[in-house]
Amino acid sequence: MRSIALAAASALVAADAVHASPTLTEKQLPNRAAALPTVTASGNAFWAGKERFYVRGIDYQPGGSSTNADPLANTDICTRDIQRFKDLGVNAIRVYSVDNSQDHSACMQKLSDAGIYLVLDVNNPNYSINRDNPEPSYNDVYLQSVFATIDEFAKYPNTLAFFSGNEVINDMPETVKSAPFVKATTRDMRQYIGSRGYRKIPVGYSAADVSDNRMQTADYFNCGGDDERSDFFAFNDYSWCAPSSFTQSGWDQKVKNFTGYGIPIFLSEWGCTKNARDFEELSALMSDEMSGVYSGGLLYEYSREGNDFGIVELSGNSNSVKEDSDFDKFKAALQKYPAPSGDGGFTSTTKAAACPTLDSIWDLGKWGQSALPAIPDKAKKYMTAGAGKGPGLTGDGSQNAGGTSTGTAEPGSGSVSATASGHNGGTGRPAPPMDMSFLYVTGVAGLFTLIGTLLL
Ligand SMILES: *[C@@H]1O[C@H](CO)[C@@H](O)[C@H](O)[C@H]1NC(C)=O
Ligand SMILES: *[C@@H]1O[C@H](CO)[C@@H](O)[C@H](O)[C@H]1NC(C)=O
Repeated sequence: MRSIALAAASALVAADAVHASPTLTEKQLPNRAAALPTVTASGNAFWAGKERFYVRGIDYQPGGSSTNADPLANTDICTRDIQRFKDLGVNAIRVYSVDNSQDHSACMQKLSDAGIYLVLDVNNPNYSINRDNPEPSYNDVYLQSVFATIDEFAKYPNTLAFFSGNEVINDMPETVKSAPFVKATTRDMRQYIGSRGYRKIPVGYSAADVSDNRMQTADYFNCGGDDERSDFFAFNDYSWCAPSSFTQSGWDQKVKNFTGYGIPIFLSEWGCTKNARDFEELSALMSDEMSGVYSGGLLYEYSREGNDFGIVELSGNSNSVKEDSDFDKFKAALQKYPAPSGDGGFTSTTKAAACPTLDSIWDLGKWGQSALPAIPDKAKKYMTAGAGKGPGLTGDGSQNAGGTSTGTAEPGSGSVSATASGHNGGTGRPAPPMDMSFLYVTGVAGLFTLIGTLLL
């Protein structure tokens, strides 16, 4: 969703100043649930442990897109809203920007306690690829911020996935030229995750709702070498406007076109508001009409921000939340349409797409069909030394910072150690991952237990 001016922008600031008593009491903490199983991508699906995982989520951007605020760095704010997420029954939220200089452990724990995963955009207005002039904005200062965000969130077991970009390519034809830089960022993020020895958190791009270039964008992010391809693809889709159906909305064509695509796909935003909403989108999204190709999606969005999309209203001068009638309707639809059981007819083989043909719509300039910029020299050190402290949301910004890329990447140059390079090999269902999640709970004692277990 493109930026829309925000009536409720001041709500966040005002709420910040009020110290509301949290609804999840500290007394609940000793009984908190064990960490959620981490999610992996394999074949064209996501897996939570051995179970197929469908995103049944909601987009969370209190204050709207121009506020540039981080709802997960403020325990009062996230506590207020997580109880609503839990009441709705969602299993994931998407957050569009975070302050990578802050600690997020309290909100991430509360999300985990509520059974909720996080899909996170790693960009913010000051640190992002500039679609109007992408080449200078792909630089070491930008990547340092992206990598610092990964450092902060890789440690939480309920971090589900990272978005390397959101709608950088839109319906303006010239924005297609930013694609090689977003794809290079995706490659660098995957390499960083591997180089730093983090678990394989899936990385992908969230595309705009543009029919002219959606297939090209999808194929582009899944073409080329294993080091360059995304772990999943997501797009924003507002084509199902109630009353509608699987065929009337054209979603049947989007299943047909993406059949055999080769990596997981989900809707990073859905929820047309042209007419009164009934959330029957879930009847298709959670059925075997779609489950072989799609892994769910995120409703746009939680709070009403000067438009019709939100399902709650945040009050300007208190921590109060008013649930609209759409809140109950969405909750009822989630109950009516549970996640499909079994494996949903997924495809076990992970595969690449062909890089799209260049034409007047898909014109990548000097990069041609598949070449990518090499990682900027000054950013290479982060792979071994780590990114260090993040600049947060209000730093000097990266868009005109130095240290840009000076050449074309060699094929395979983005690959790293076995920890993260390439895809999951297409062997189908992943082997049950060794459950080390207790380490997050038990810390050093757990580590010694693990070592003890291995020695026995
Ligand atoms: C499906 O693919 C065809 C052929 O590339 C294209 O013309 C059509 O617009 C696509 N439909 C959707 C809904 O993406
Ligand atoms: C950084 O973000 C803040 C808040 O959005 C904005 O006021 C400031 O101008 C930005 N700085 C740069 C250098 O873009």
